[in-house]
Amino acid sequence: MFKSQCLLLCLCYVIISAYGNAVPFIDKCEWKDQACIKKSAQKAIPSFANGLPEYGVKALDPININKVSLEESGLSLTFEEFKVVGLSKVKILSVDRDEAPTYIKLELECPIDVTGTYTASGQLLFVPIEGHGPFQVKTNNIYIWVKAAVSTVDGSDGEKHWKIGKFEYTYEAKTKTLLDFKNLFNGDKNKAAPIEKILDENWSELMKLFAKPIISKVIHEIKDDIQSFVKAVPSKDLEV
Ligand SMILES: *[C@@H]1O[C@H](CO)[C@@H](O)[C@H](O)[C@H]1NC(C)=O
Repeated sequence: MFKSQCLLLCLCYVIISAYGNAVPFIDKCEWKDQACIKKSAQKAIPSFANGLPEYGVKALDPININKVSLEESGLSLTFEEFKVVGLSKVKILSVDRDEAPTYIKLELECPIDVTGTYTASGQLLFVPIEGHGPFQVKTNNIYIWVKAAVSTVDGSDGEKHWKIGKFEYTYEAKTKTLLDFKNLFNGDKNKAAPIEKILDENWSELMKLFAKPIISKVIHEIKDDIQSFVKAVPSKDLEV
């Protein structure tokens, strides 16, 4: 008896917090009020970073990723069992949207620290690379630009909900990035030296290549979270 009451209470709590008027960490904004949207979104970031299971939102800091691979410019690269840390520190630089609403554009920056296991073969900027072992990609400032289509659909709760559609993005490492790959050429220091020089000097260019599958995964995780959230929360609770 006690148990079922407790369960009922919990359930009520979840329903109230998920479907009640207030989403505590969201300040409602008018769709045309860019400054308000920016501030509200910035304020919501820690909540999203920690995860919001009641809205189906997974934690974003850290993000654990199983595996991504890249085959490009003569390079074959795989990152496995890696962890991306830093998204709780996202800073929103700008928000832009049209009136409909049909799209929203965001500019963000955040630090990222990625650690895991890599496997590489082929060449990197025309220098041979070969290796398997631990890696780290760490930078204090990665800039991300995202444009996402937003439409309004009828939810199963009979309310209007936002829906995220197609999206595009670009990114750029703005500050010196540590690209640390252990055990290059099976630990052969002489063979590894040229590639270590490239990793140190050409980080900006290399990030365009290396970070591509990582950033793609990260952006899809963020998108999935936002999608789950707006599916659970009617648009009337998000905008005035
Ligand atoms: C790597 O960076 C160095 C120093 O900035 C530059 O001189 C060199 O041309 C770069 N190498 C490649 C292959 O882009």
